[in-house]
Order: sequence, then C-alpha cells, then structure tokens
Amino acid sequence: MILWPMIEHRIDRRDPIGIRNRNRFAPETMKVLVILSHPRLDCFCHKIAEAAIVEFREAGHEVVFHDLYAENFDAILPHSEVLKSAKPDAAIEQHCRELVDADLYVIVHPIWWAMPPAMLKGWVDRVFRPGIAYEFSPQGAVGKLKGKRAIVFTTSNSPPEEDGNGSGSPLEELWKRSIFGFCGVDDFYCRNFASIVLSTQEQRDEWVREVRTIARNR
Ligand SMILES: Cc1cc2nc3c(=O)[nH]c(=O)nc-3n(C[C@H](O)[C@H](O)[C@H](O)COP(=O)(O)O)c2cc1C
Repeated sequence: MILWPMIEHRIDRRDPIGIRNRNRFAPETMKVLVILSHPRLDCFCHKIAEAAIVEFREAGHEVVFHDLYAENFDAILPHSEVLKSAKPDAAIEQHCRELVDADLYVIVHPIWWAMPPAMLKGWVDRVFRPGIAYEFSPQGAVGKLKGKRAIVFTTSNSPPEEDGNGSGSPLEELWKRSIFGFCGVDDFYCRNFASIVLSTQEQRDEWVREVRTIARNR
C-alpha cells in the first residue's frame, strides 16, 4: 500500500538511535508510561512493547503499561468531557495522573492508513486534556509536559523505501510536533519497522534487539 510520496529516509548514520539529542538531565530511575494499541496479541507491536518493558524493568525503571484493546479503553471523547472545567470519569483521571507522573512515554502502534489506530487517537483525545497536557494563556498555548521524553514505535507493511512512513513522515510529524511538541515534549524519537509482512524471523529478532537497545540508551 503506497499512501505517501517517497520521502528521504533521514536517519543520522552517526547516531542511528538519536542519543545525541536526548535530554542530558534524564533521571536515573524513570517512570515510563508504555501505551500499546493493537488488537492482535501475536502481532509485532506486542513484541516491541514486551521487549521495551523488559529492558526498562531490568534497568530499574518503573513501568506503567496499558494495552488499550485488552483493557477495552473507551476511545470516544464525550461532549461532557471537552471543557477544561469538566470532570472526566475515574479511568480517565487515572490515565491523566499517569501522563503527568511519567518521565518517558513509549507509544507502540501499527500504521493504519498512514495514521494511528482510532483507539489510540481516542486515548490522546481523552487523556491529553486542557489543564493536564497543555493550556492556553493570554500569550498562547503552553505545553505542560515540559522536560518529559517520548519514543514512538510504529509498524507497517509497505516497504520503507516505498511508503514514506519512516523518518520525517507526516505521521512522525503528527506525533513529534502536533501532539508531543504542542504539549512541551521536545525530546522525541520515532522508529518505524517495515515491512512486517515481508520480514523474516531473523529480521524480526534483530528489530527486537534494536528496540531493547533504544530502550536501554534513551
Ligand atoms: C486497517 C489497516 C490499515 C493499514 N494501513 C497501512 C498503511 O497505510 N501502510 C502500511 O504500510 N501498512 C498498513 N497496514 C498494515 C499494518 O500496518 C500491518 O499489518 C502492521 O503494521 C503489521 O505489524 P503487526 O504485526 O504489529 O500487526 C494496514 C493494516 C490495517 C488492518
């Protein structure tokens, strides 16, 4: 499936996992919030999430993990919850607390029509609330998640040289600028794994090792 024109793959070969840009004041022991959005248990996204969680826990970090489909997350933002003054339900309040408490966000999702699954979009809609993730001052929007870091792992089937879902893609820009950047998170790293359908077991094992390296070094 080719949805975007080919975009130059802009991985810095001297710094393939982006360590140079990481926040130098990252705490030694972090609270890591891992959000997985994939309906199938035996998918590669689950393998990515598992590998990252194992690595973070082995390094002594505290991990909060949500498998949105397994938890049957209610992804529809109700009208009553839109305003900053609204009181969301208890489950959303807990997600908001976790968003504020975390030092590092790790998002794992397949690419569906060049976008995140609607389930994950709904998590962002409901949890990145005004007053929690951002707010408006007379000077404009103010991100409230400053100093935090984010990693987004995506999977897709089109070969990377054809689909443009890799580095610099509109999807990466969506996470980097419109969501995390808007909320003040400027230490951002994104890695797309493709093509899952064409990959061998050997390739997938190698990708899992890469996920562990990224989790260990960021
Ligand atoms: C509704 C839907 C839309 C999809 N859209 C795309 C797409 O835009 N580009 C692409 O490369 N793959 C697309 N795919 C394939 C998925 O990205 C692929 O199945 C998944 O990333 C494989 O990884 P997994 O093992 O984690 O599921 C789509 C799959 C589904 C079900």
